[in-house]
Amino acid sequence: MILDKKFENLFLNVCNRAALSSHYLVGKNDKIAADKAAVDSMRSELNKIDMKGKIVIGEGELDEAPMLYIGEKVGTNKGPLLDIAVDPLEGTNFAAQNLPGALSVICVAQKSNLLNAPETYMNKISVNCTEPNVVDLDYSLKKNIYNLAEYKNKKPENLTACILDRPRHLETINELKKLKVNLRLITDGDISGALLVTNEKYGVDIFLGIGGGPEGVLAASALDAFDCNFQGRFLFNTEKDKNRAKKMGIKDLNKKYSINEIVSGDSIFCATGVTSGDLVSGIEIENDDFISETLITHKSTNMKKIIKTRQKI
Ligand code: FBP
Repeated sequence: MILDKKFENLFLNVCNRAALSSHYLVGKNDKIAADKAAVDSMRSELNKIDMKGKIVIGEGELDEAPMLYIGEKVGTNKGPLLDIAVDPLEGTNFAAQNLPGALSVICVAQKSNLLNAPETYMNKISVNCTEPNVVDLDYSLKKNIYNLAEYKNKKPENLTACILDRPRHLETINELKKLKVNLRLITDGDISGALLVTNEKYGVDIFLGIGGGPEGVLAASALDAFDCNFQGRFLFNTEKDKNRAKKMGIKDLNKKYSINEIVSGDSIFCATGVTSGDLVSGIEIENDDFISETLITHKSTNMKKIIKTRQKI
C-alpha cells in the first residue's frame, strides 16, 4: 500500500507551521521555549488530519512529555493507520542562538513500517551508494574509506566525511585526518548531516558517527527515498535505557539495522527550515505572509524536492 499523495501537502503544512512557531523564538536563547512552540503547533496541526496516527518517535515517553509522547494518538481518528516520527525542532541550540540549520522534521509511514527507536544514541553511517559491501558499520574506518574511494573513483584525500564535533569522536576524527580525508565537522543537527550525502552539491561523501537514535530513523526515511544507504546501531549506556528498549520490542540490543529495517514500504519525509542552513532556507516574514522552504520526499512517487511556500500567517 502507498500513502495517498494528499498527505504530501498535509504534512508539509504541519512542518511549515511548526517552523513558523519556532521562528518567533529564534535568537532568544531559550531552546526549551523554541522547542515547545514547535511541539504545540505540530500537535495541533496533526490533530486536524484525517488519519489514525500514532507517534512512534516523539518528545519522549508520557511521563517525560505531555505532548507528542511515544504512543500518543494523533489525527481525527478517521482514515489510514499511520506511524509518525517527529522532531518538531531539530537543532534546538541553532534556533536558540540564531545559528544556521534549525529544522522542523516529520516522517510518516504506514503502521508498523517505522522502527520505534528509543531515546538513546545510535552509531550511524550513510553514503550515496546502495551497492552491498562497500561501506558497512562493521568494517574498520580505513576499509570503509578505501572502499568508498574505489567505488567513487576518487582518492581518500578527495573524499569528505561529515561528523558531529564531539569528544567521543576524537579517535575517528584523528584517523580520518591520518587517512587525509577532508572533514566537515558539525556542531549539531545530524539529520541534516546525514542528508548531505544525497547530492554532490553538498560535497559530502560519507556521514558517520554517534548521534541521536530518533534522528537516525528520521534521516533514514529521507535517505531511502534518495536511494542512499544508511545503517545504524543503538548504543545503550544505562540499564534503564536497555530495559526501555526491550519494552519497546528491541530483542537484540546490539543489532545493526539496515535502512529497510528502519523504514519499510512507502514514507513521506518533510524538513522545513527554521533558520537557513545547508538543505533549506529559514522562515521569512513579509507583511502578513510567511515564506518557508521544505525538503520533501515521498518514496512511492519518487518525489524528492525543495518546496517554497508563501502562506498567510
Ligand atoms: P536537539 O535538537 O534535540 O538539541 O538535538 C541536536 C542534535 O545535534 C542532534 O541532531 C543529534 O542527533 C544530537 O543532538 C547529538 O546529541 P549530543 O549533543 O548529545 O551529542
